[in-house]
Amino acid sequence: MALRNPQVSFRLGRLKRRGRALVGLYRLPPGESFASLQEKERELASALGEQVQITQTAWPGCVEIARFPALPRTVSLSDALPVIRKANEFSWCLGEGVQGPVLVPLREYPHLLVAGATGGGKTNALKVIAETLKVQRPDATVVIADLKGGYDYKPLLDTVDEVIRDLDRLHVWMQQLVTTLTEREQEAWERGTTHFTPCVTLIDEFATVTSTANSKVDKETAEMAKAILAMVNTILQKGRSLGLHLVIATQRPDAETIPGTLRANMDALLTFHVTTQVQSGVVLGPGHNEAFELPPIPGRALVSLGGSWNRCRYFDGSVDITSIFNIRRRRSWALRSASRSGASVDAWMMKLPPGPSSAFLARRNSRPTSRGGSCTSRMVN
Ligand SMILES: Nc1ncnc2c1ncn2[C@@H]1O[C@H](COP(=O)(O)OP(=O)(O)OP(=O)(O)O)[C@@H](O)[C@H]1O
Ligand SMILES: [Mg+2]
Repeated sequence: MALRNPQVSFRLGRLKRRGRALVGLYRLPPGESFASLQEKERELASALGEQVQITQTAWPGCVEIARFPALPRTVSLSDALPVIRKANEFSWCLGEGVQGPVLVPLREYPHLLVAGATGGGKTNALKVIAETLKVQRPDATVVIADLKGGYDYKPLLDTVDEVIRDLDRLHVWMQQLVTTLTEREQEAWERGTTHFTPCVTLIDEFATVTSTANSKVDKETAEMAKAILAMVNTILQKGRSLGLHLVIATQRPDAETIPGTLRANMDALLTFHVTTQVQSGVVLGPGHNEAFELPPIPGRALVSLGGSWNRCRYFDGSVDITSIFNIRRRRSWALRSASRSGASVDAWMMKLPPGPSSAFLARRNSRPTSRGGSCTSRMVN
């Protein structure tokens, strides 16, 4: 790994695990001595967010640097909830960092990419993110799309607004997001307001959409997936100031799954261990192997915000916070008090339209070319 401090970025050989520590041999940069480097131990430790120990070796001009993970082995979401509830701003909850829960405001980082090899903890992270968003803003619309069947998200059915389980429904939902985007753009133009009820859509295993779009077997479904990709791109580009947010999770964070245009609009990243150095470069930037070098342990992650990154330990998914907070009750209370106070309630977002009716699907199948985004929610109802 290239340590962030450029003065000690010359690693020789591979990193080795010794107990809890990751140990590597580094060549002393010109002009540095063992003593001068030791003085920088603390600086290095804070740059890495972990404890660091530098020792002299038998090889002249070389030092051994051992890095101890300073993060706890397990962290529970219930311990972090008081901090999350007191957050000043509506924030993504991206695990536990060395200084406590990592809370990242959606206002600054409107869209989030979650990457990591299978079993890293992406689904668990998406569940926690969805639940903690609802804890902070029960009035926000939170929709999860899982094209792998959705059963992982069944425990969240009472918490989130909808769990989308198939491509047809995702297509309709994205069309509605684009319609809302247009309406909000108009409202922002006419009334000068940019305060809209947040609407967050989390899409797990995004590669399903991109691989379907590239599939040559079922042309009709491929067209639908392509339309979804185009609409995702639109929301990523224009939704940021209009309260429309996307979270995209993928096992394969390569250029095929996350095209450059999409990646460029997602400046917040949560990554677990990835399987190749190339994937690490795609998520963190060329030449950065840090995501590849993360230990392949569920919940060990890096949070990257527009270039800099920090280690975090993601919350264990075993805490079901729906039993702690009755989010539904809080949500209806929030809605009642909003309407009593005369505040404008984004009515469209409150009641989600039903899934595509068979008449809609039949109509769409008979007119395959009409899919490119012209259908609105009114056609479904
Ligand atoms: N933060 C965590 N702490 C402890 N265990 C975790 C954590 N996150 C996930 N796990 C465990 O790791 C396993 C895999 O988690 P999860 O399903 O979230 O991974 P994934 O990245 O979504 O995998 P896939 O890509 O195959 O869908 C689960 O058994 C889960 O309980
Ligand atoms: Mg998963």
